[in-house]
Amino acid sequence: MAPSEANVATKGNSVMRLENKVAIVSGSASGMGAATARRFGKEGAKVVVADMLEAEGRAVVKQIVDAGGTAMFCALNVTEEASWAACVAACVAAYGRLDIMVNNAGISGSAVNDLLETGIWDRIMAVNATGVFLGTKFAVEQMQKNGGGSIVNLSSISGLVGQTMVHMSYNASKGAVLTMTKSTAVQFGKDGIRANTVHPGLMPPMRTSGATADPTVRAKMLRAVPLGRNGEIDEVANAILFLASDEASYITGAELYVDGGYLAA
Ligand SMILES: NC(=O)c1ccc[n+]([C@@H]2O[C@H](COP(=O)([O-])OP(=O)(O)OC[C@H]3O[C@@H](n4cnc5c(N)ncnc54)[C@H](O)[C@@H]3O)[C@@H](O)[C@H]2O)c1
Repeated sequence: MAPSEANVATKGNSVMRLENKVAIVSGSASGMGAATARRFGKEGAKVVVADMLEAEGRAVVKQIVDAGGTAMFCALNVTEEASWAACVAACVAAYGRLDIMVNNAGISGSAVNDLLETGIWDRIMAVNATGVFLGTKFAVEQMQKNGGGSIVNLSSISGLVGQTMVHMSYNASKGAVLTMTKSTAVQFGKDGIRANTVHPGLMPPMRTSGATADPTVRAKMLRAVPLGRNGEIDEVANAILFLASDEASYITGAELYVDGGYLAA
């Protein structure tokens, strides 16, 4: 979608960057997904907070509504096609369309004792890779009806490099997110659909983090970050907001590193 004056509204003195947009953010009961949902709400989007964690998800909806925004909760297990179908249907029933999909839900690969365990491979690939495929599938089908949209997928520095303490399925799943995003950009650009990846680096630990939440491990990892500190969840939300918005109208298939320079070293 080309940017237009009609897409830029104001609330008070500030520009609303997602006015008239409808967004689903998967995994937005917690962490960077919650920060993104809150930011989208402040920027005028109607936000679907989609997660397995209902109480936490409803709390994020309340935060958005209390701040003057519009949001609803949707129970979503990203590994299940029927769950996606129900969530997207609920979004369209409530808000009439879908313009932005943020495939953010994920589980960590660092909470493992056995780096070669097969069950962990299956579990992580199901959430982090198949979950993004399914989110993309349902987003594309809906966005084709609108004449376009923006998909932002959460990869990681782990999608580009290996790590000693992380199950290789995490790296593989995040690499899959990177390349399937490029497939989406190439295959559905004709429909006005953009797709980009965001690659956070050392962030506050995930709910499911193991080794990478350990302070000693984190201190060592910090030494590899040129900016010398971990990132904040709102710094990732800012990057997602940019790619989701019409400000990024000619950007698709791109990788945006939000890693304090980790991958540049
Ligand atoms: N925290 C980091 O260091 C870091 C770094 C790089 C990339 N990432 C990626 O960023 C994304 C967000 O991470 P975070 O740090 O906010 O983690 P988090 O653990 O705080 O949040 C993840 C959310 O995903 C949800 N989720 C997990 N499995 C789900 C499923 N099957 N269906 C629906 N929801 C599910 C969880 O309930 C949770 O609310 C993830 O994809 C993660 O892999 C995180």
